[in-house]
Amino acid sequence: MSRSAHPAGPRHADVLTEGHYTAPPADLNALDPKVWAHTVSRNEDGVVSVGGIDVATLAEEFGTPAYFMDEADFRARARSWRTAFGHDADVFYAGKAFLSRAVVRWLHEEGLNLDVCSGGELATALSAGMPADRIAFHGNNKSTEEITKAVESGVGRIVLDSFQEIVRVAHIAQSLGKRQRVQIRVTVGVEAHTHEFIATAHEDQKFGIALADGQAAEAVRRALALDGLEVVGIHSHIGSQIFDMAGFEVAARRVVALLAAVRDEHGVELPEIDLGGGLGIAYTSEDDPREPHEIAKALNEIVTRECEAAKLRTPRISVEPGRAIVGPTAFTLYEVGTIKPLDGLRTYVSVDGGMSDNIRTALYDAEYSVALVSRASDAEPMLVRVVGKHCESGDIVVRDAFLPADLAPGDLIAVPATGAYCRSMASNYNHALRPPVVAVNDGEARVIVRRETEEDLLRLDIG
Ligand code: LLP
Repeated sequence: MSRSAHPAGPRHADVLTEGHYTAPPADLNALDPKVWAHTVSRNEDGVVSVGGIDVATLAEEFGTPAYFMDEADFRARARSWRTAFGHDADVFYAGKAFLSRAVVRWLHEEGLNLDVCSGGELATALSAGMPADRIAFHGNNKSTEEITKAVESGVGRIVLDSFQEIVRVAHIAQSLGKRQRVQIRVTVGVEAHTHEFIATAHEDQKFGIALADGQAAEAVRRALALDGLEVVGIHSHIGSQIFDMAGFEVAARRVVALLAAVRDEHGVELPEIDLGGGLGIAYTSEDDPREPHEIAKALNEIVTRECEAAKLRTPRISVEPGRAIVGPTAFTLYEVGTIKPLDGLRTYVSVDGGMSDNIRTALYDAEYSVALVSRASDAEPMLVRVVGKHCESGDIVVRDAFLPADLAPGDLIAVPATGAYCRSMASNYNHALRPPVVAVNDGEARVIVRRETEEDLLRLDIG
């Protein structure tokens, strides 16, 4: 189980000695490279910098809260997935983790493909010049408009998620005089060891078509019979923030078994399998994520072995990492506003953002780290809970962490590993203005998604 996604046990100060934080870290000024973006470091004056620019300068120029993304790190991680899988495989970055036009351009330049799951993501991808044939379109309930747009624009594949959708996509493609390349998403019946809300391959959930009881084989049968569709492969995604490769291996084995069954029944060898995304990242020093090359090796080996045993040609493999590419590349910078020590419990540190810029703690009980970044401190560690400014007691950003006891209003603190599913799941709760995303690279910082303004809010409110 991923500690970050699904920490065990109650979370009161009096049980902390039995839980995650048995002791404060040896050095509160240290920045664990596992959880911080590559170019983040603490300068001699104690101030933290990213991409060669210190956080005080960044806060002054761009304000807080704000997400700062290390472009070089993003590109390096994208490249390492690409290199690990090589030319006989495709890496589709999962746009739901975080998508903007700059990111689309980086991905294109680094040779990655893109997975989108809504008309909005598709529009973003196309507007930034991602070639349509390098885009895969996902979703369990794509609208007619979304399917039409996807087919018209020529997306490389649509991942079919239900029996209705098989017919729907076939009809739309045919009416547009096209034959759409599709994969069929199956649920392989694997219980991924992650938070229930982000596990997707056990049978009792909304995604995909079950392999069990022959449903997936029936889906392939129906799809092969329709002129509007070119069935190119099978897709499986077992969940998110997963550390254990075992689930992927079982999924790969079962998907290959379906390919063999399809060959036996129809005489057709489907040329592709997609094993989805879901690889976990380090949110705290306790997490030990796998490297892309280990993942590629494990998946290639299992698929090759199973295909040899079934006398199948090895299909082209694709994967869809989202979090593993973008997650570690950004941190959220906050300014400390108020500090409330609660005797015998902990100290509540309120920042100028909260659940509107990071819902993951409230939603999944996710764990995060935090550090004082505007200066170094030799003060004693203090047990804190970092909370936001929303009207809700569950508005927690970092549940349990240590910060120096001399923390003061006006200090800047940063929460690392917020590149994935933070800005993309941000909300306007309490009419908060969603923070900007600022890309930092080699001494230059530029806004890639600007901060919302009150005018933005009022523009939608036309009553
Ligand atoms: N492919 C498919 C079909 C997916 O549904 C997902 C994520 C991915 C790839 C990318 O998964 P990743 O590599 O990023 O784990 N909001 C949750 C995560 C939801 C993931 C949804 N699907 C969170 O904040 O943890």
